[in-house]
Amino acid sequence: MAKRTVRYVCQSCGYQSVKWKGRCPSCGEWNTLVEEVVEGNGKLSTKTPSKVLPIGEWREETSGRISTGFENLDTALGGGVVEGQVILIAGEPGIGKSTLLLQISERFGGEGKVLYVSGEESGTQVALRGKRLGLSGDKVLVYPETLFENIIEEVNRLEPSLVVVDSIQTVYSEKLESSAGSVSQVREVTFRLTELCKEKGIPCFIVGQVTKEGSIAGPKVLEHMVDTVLQFEGERFNFYRVVKVVKNRFGSTGEVAVFRMGDAGLEEVLEPSAFFIGERRNSPGSVVFPYTEGSKPILVEIQALVIQALYTTPQRKTQGFDVNRLSLILAVLEKEVGLFTRDSDVFVNVAGGLSVREPAADLAVAMAIISSKKDTPIPEDLVIFGELGLSGEVRAVHFGDMRLKEAKRFGFKRAIIPAKLEMEIEGMEIYPVSTLREAVDLLF
Ligand code: TYD
Ligand code: MG
Repeated sequence: MAKRTVRYVCQSCGYQSVKWKGRCPSCGEWNTLVEEVVEGNGKLSTKTPSKVLPIGEWREETSGRISTGFENLDTALGGGVVEGQVILIAGEPGIGKSTLLLQISERFGGEGKVLYVSGEESGTQVALRGKRLGLSGDKVLVYPETLFENIIEEVNRLEPSLVVVDSIQTVYSEKLESSAGSVSQVREVTFRLTELCKEKGIPCFIVGQVTKEGSIAGPKVLEHMVDTVLQFEGERFNFYRVVKVVKNRFGSTGEVAVFRMGDAGLEEVLEPSAFFIGERRNSPGSVVFPYTEGSKPILVEIQALVIQALYTTPQRKTQGFDVNRLSLILAVLEKEVGLFTRDSDVFVNVAGGLSVREPAADLAVAMAIISSKKDTPIPEDLVIFGELGLSGEVRAVHFGDMRLKEAKRFGFKRAIIPAKLEMEIEGMEIYPVSTLREAVDLLF
């Protein structure tokens, strides 16, 4: 094997240098040179050659799915994990990543032991958590180690059925000079870990701490290297935890698995709609929205609060909803139906800690805002969905029938939906609207 050395590679143009430079002499960008391991001949490290197989045989290779021990997570992943699948689980500190992975380690359906590499906590700390979670303790091998070369050795020696690395930011390779958690380290370690797991067919969960800015491990350097990215969301002081599939090479994205944090760790919530709308009071500003980005819809409550502004610059604050999208909705509300909010503070909240990014929520948010402003509640048995265009048109959205079926299942009798969908459902009254004005005339 060729000798491995270190080079500084420009992330913008690919220029290589033996010394670090603040500015790339080739493209002129600042701070783009990052330490990387290269082979002796100056080429970036290459992996072992892959196989060439007919497509039918490849499919067979990935058909055996292994259960994570959580039914809802298996479903979200497309039926469980696949041999050699590398899954990044990203989330803010304290959200429950270590808890979930320790529980998965114990319940994991694969034959043999699970290697749990803990770089953040000592063996005793992990054991204490295991005790709290009521784990039996003989299946999971805890390895408090941060030197990557040692970790590789143990994986080779033990040949475990699953590897967990908690967290990738604490692991470093001695081949690089930069410290653990730096872009170069995180990238090098993930790259080699992925290579190893693929070669051995071992599935692997990698924990990635999310920094304040919301990016994984410095920048989002890891996302393209792994097969699957799970986003762990929820409010720390709330019970609910949502694991969202944001990338998946072995299934569809947008799928969610809902959990509840209890005294004995995370429990799966198999009926998330019942949880998310369970505490709803039918007061002004509250609207039920059937959310979905994947195959499973969830009813969530969107709450808006519009009050007289306290300062000259009115506030726009959101939780679980994009604040820029809110500004856009407020502008459309003013232009199209004359709802003036420039002297008001506007708050929008998705109850329960789920974050809703799909534009299908626009119409529900708009109606919640009007409802709060006019102090008039929305009918209790109504759900609303539709995307808003800049000229106040209500645009069609995906999964209309699934959303309506979920609403019906939970006893909702009426729905305001985009007219373009031309949908009907037995036992529900459907109100198709093509503009914001039509929706407002219907309700207020
Ligand atoms: P943790 O898994 O350490 O979060 P992360 O690895 O994402 O940083 O756990 C986070 C929180 O969960 C912690 O504040 C305590 C709480 N918790 C429970 O409520 N119940 C439990 O059974 C456990 C183990 C933790
Ligand atoms: Mg942790």
